[in-house]
Amino acid sequence: MKAILGIESSCDDTSAAVIIDGVLRSNVIASQKVHEAFGGVVPELASRAHQQNILPVVSEAIRQAGISKNDLTAIAYTRGPGLLGSLLVGTSFAKGLALGLNIPLIDVNHLAAHALSHFVKETPEDEVPEFPYMCLLISGGNSQIILVKSPVDMEIIGKTIDDAAGEAFDKCAKVMGLPYPGGPHIDRLAAEGNPNAFAFARPKIPGLDYSFSGLKTSFLYTLRDGLAEDPEFIEKNKADLAASLQQAIIDILLAKLSKAVKIHRPRQIAIGGGVSANSGVRNAIENFCKGRGIKAWIPKRSFTTDNAAMVAIAGAMRFTPDHITDISLPPYSKTAIS
Ligand code: KG4
Repeated sequence: MKAILGIESSCDDTSAAVIIDGVLRSNVIASQKVHEAFGGVVPELASRAHQQNILPVVSEAIRQAGISKNDLTAIAYTRGPGLLGSLLVGTSFAKGLALGLNIPLIDVNHLAAHALSHFVKETPEDEVPEFPYMCLLISGGNSQIILVKSPVDMEIIGKTIDDAAGEAFDKCAKVMGLPYPGGPHIDRLAAEGNPNAFAFARPKIPGLDYSFSGLKTSFLYTLRDGLAEDPEFIEKNKADLAASLQQAIIDILLAKLSKAVKIHRPRQIAIGGGVSANSGVRNAIENFCKGRGIKAWIPKRSFTTDNAAMVAIAGAMRFTPDHITDISLPPYSKTAIS
């Protein structure tokens, strides 16, 4: 039996998962509500909450998998990128447990784990992608187009030069007075609105890189001008504002993806990251791929946001005698994919 424990603590979710012989047996996630009152993640509060959550979350993941900690073969953990204080909690816990159990550690890059999340199998029959494929990774911290050539060979061919797609959702939602994180609220409101009601700015930057800051400014100015004429502007137009914002984000994402597809001609496209939970994005990618004869990999919503199942599978796929992490390796807050 090969049992891999995955540990994720890069931002504001403490998660642990167990994969046994390639099949997911548990995936426990403790989300941190403490940040809602601040309208964004407060790093120090995040690390403190991870410290409180990590032991019960890991114990529960092992219990739900129906094994004991002594049955674990190796521990995969998120080394980075992310918030350093948060990463330190997961990293230190993983190291301590691996040392205590005398089993190997496997460090995992958080972005690579998102890109490999489609390999998480809930039953042995589940289908998985074939290498190589193109991945659109869209989250609160990243917007990237990645060529995934193997579990250990990934090339970022496009990335955001300013905000990530999730930040565009969250920051625009915040100025509308919606709670944090705003992405899911925009998604819900957009279902009732007209996506063509407002024309927000689309960036004109060359190459495959993304930019969302112009859209954010254009959204802000529309609210400012609307509120100057009618103090009820947001309330009266919230569904149309949400639908038009979501449409603008989808158009921006697809414009660069379409360019990337023309250059690299992938046969499969996978999406990942928190924003891949968005209903409009999921439909748009499905249609985009259908029209081009490309196989689309749309993740289950539970695997879009941060979770340890993707860390465990990325660890399992990288677990070879040559890839065993030295206990002295520190976490990192920023890096390219690796
Ligand atoms: O991958 P993730 O959990 O972690 C970070 O990178 O932080 O992504 C979180 C992001 C947030 O910006 C959140 O608003 C966005 O994913 N998100 C959504 C939806 N669900 C989560 N954005 C749009 N529509 C959604 N349904």
